[in-house]
Amino acid sequence: MTDERLFLVLMGPPGAGKGTQAKRLAESEGICQIATGDLLRAAVAADSELGRKAESYMEAGELVPDDLILDLVDQELERPGCEGGAVFDGFPRTLEQARGLEVLLERRGESLDGVLALEVPEEELIRRLSGRRVCKSCGKMYHIRFDPPRQEGRCEECGGELVQRPDDQPETIRNRLSVYREETRPVRDRYEDRAGVTVVDGDRPIDEIAADLRDRAAALAAES
Ligand code: AP5
Repeated sequence: MTDERLFLVLMGPPGAGKGTQAKRLAESEGICQIATGDLLRAAVAADSELGRKAESYMEAGELVPDDLILDLVDQELERPGCEGGAVFDGFPRTLEQARGLEVLLERRGESLDGVLALEVPEEELIRRLSGRRVCKSCGKMYHIRFDPPRQEGRCEECGGELVQRPDDQPETIRNRLSVYREETRPVRDRYEDRAGVTVVDGDRPIDEIAADLRDRAAALAAES
């Protein structure tokens, strides 16, 4: 990486592996991960004002209002660890958020260096989301078939209880996929029309995708 800051968007439908991969990418590039879904879940768990406003939208698989999300991202960009830049995971999800991100970066004298999009067939997304389990204590993620813990129902890192996310119920999964098609796919189209989108096959083993994303991110950093 150069001394320039690096700002990447990692897009993809629910279950595409954004969280799994953004964490690794942030570590390999020395930047922070800004995952709006994780931040909102933490706000719900803390019963903060934001959490109380966001909870009903999240449980239904609907999008949380743009103004709340943009304020959240604005604050996150100032947090320690984001000095080198950020990978946005699950953001922007609407055209309004995409425009808002441009403003937030411009205000800091920055711009987006690249957009990476994970592509995964819909049947696979449904398999991944319905089998996902998350540690109630530390948030580590598993999959009952693709990435199972050594002891069923227990986190390998902290021994915490593994639970299903409330929005990983079949009906909510279907709604999230349809919200993605209607609200978020146009964001990807907008990026495609402007600076281009780097499409990455997300239907492969996790390590293989991680290595590919690392290479693509390095190329984008070198171009910027
Ligand atoms: P969010 O948390 O962002 O959920 P999402 O976009 O629906 O994405 P997921 O977290 O479900 O999937 P992922 O792509 O991160 O996949 P993961 O790595 O977990 O948002 C939740 C809610 O918050 C939204 O519905 C909305 O209400 C609200 N929200 C969040 N951001 C918002 C915004 N910007 N604006 C408005 N509202 C917002 O992987 C999934 C599973 O697959 C795991 O079990 C994993 O182990 C497994 N897996 C991953 N990769 C592979 C692989 N290669 N092979 C096999 N299994 C794999």
